[in-house]
Amino acid sequence: NSASKGTYEFYMLKEIDEQPSVMRRLSKEYFNDDADVKVDANIVQSVAQSDRIYILAAGTSYHAGLVGKNIIEKYTDIPVEVGIASEFGYHFPKLSKKPFFIFLSQSGETADSRVVLKQVNQLGLPSLTITNVAGSTLSREATYTMLLKAGPEIAVASTKAYTAQVAVQAILAKAVGEYLKIAAAIDFDLKRQLALVAEGMQEIVDGKEKINSLAKKYLATTRNAFYIGRGVDYAVALEGALKLKEVSYIQTEGFAAAELKHGTIALIEKGVPVVTLINDPATADLTRGNIQEVESRGANVITIVAKKFAKATDDIILPDVDYYLSPLVTVVPAQLLAYYASKNKGLDVDKPRNLAKSVTVE
Ligand code: G6P
Repeated sequence: NSASKGTYEFYMLKEIDEQPSVMRRLSKEYFNDDADVKVDANIVQSVAQSDRIYILAAGTSYHAGLVGKNIIEKYTDIPVEVGIASEFGYHFPKLSKKPFFIFLSQSGETADSRVVLKQVNQLGLPSLTITNVAGSTLSREATYTMLLKAGPEIAVASTKAYTAQVAVQAILAKAVGEYLKIAAAIDFDLKRQLALVAEGMQEIVDGKEKINSLAKKYLATTRNAFYIGRGVDYAVALEGALKLKEVSYIQTEGFAAAELKHGTIALIEKGVPVVTLINDPATADLTRGNIQEVESRGANVITIVAKKFAKATDDIILPDVDYYLSPLVTVVPAQLLAYYASKNKGLDVDKPRNLAKSVTVE
């Protein structure tokens, strides 16, 4: 059964490895045989009628929301705001006239999100919970639910739920965009893209030993590390940093590559790992420039680069997929770096100290 560890030492690696099959399952679930997207018509209409979408979440799910904002705006033309649920609850921004709320939550039980959903319900506003757990509290309390279909996620560090959240947001964007007759959405062959993503993820997990060697070489003894990226890679940098810090206890910061010069470069010294993500052709050269800046100060750079811009010297080459979906493949080596950094230190990868899988207190 999918909740058993089988031959794996840790659930985290099992769940990383399951991601290609989760992508295929979502494709089956949300597309028919003619490659038409299938989402509950009530959800599609309710989102399409809104003038602004507010995505609320915590932790890794918040990072999935940051990726989702780019995808949803691109394919629906509806403005999207993403918030950390707790902070959003302390000060609701001035809402648009027809807001629609999306709650992203693997467990469907996170208290920070529940607080906001209660307020949304008091205002009588429509909401959708995207969750892995049918019948969970956030699912029951929201107007609508879409399921992640990722199978039980046991490791505290979320992996397959993140990629499922990104994929389900893309599915929703495709359905709403088509309904609104947005050309970008009509032309977006998401079913085909999800198949490419699944193949790409498989290539990466099949090459995991290379990632283990990078972890051994650069992450074995360091006390701190950085992730940098631009555009959607910035969102993945935040998630890569969270993954690494939570399971390996290496203090890791993810930030926008252009912000390097506005402060963080002061922290770069000999031997500091800087994981650099490059998927956007428009900014690839600028980020290459950042690599030179940190390398000249002694940093150990690990490059994760889309095949179409990759150089022979890059460390991890990503299979080419749609730019907006690239986080689905970029995050996998980041998850693996975190996994190996933790495992090679002899830590309990699945149960990092002080953390809980589901946090039901504010
Ligand atoms: C906890 C978990 C994280 C998770 C966050 C939000 O902190 O340790 O992995 O991202 O809660 O959880 P949710 O179930 O709402 O996605």
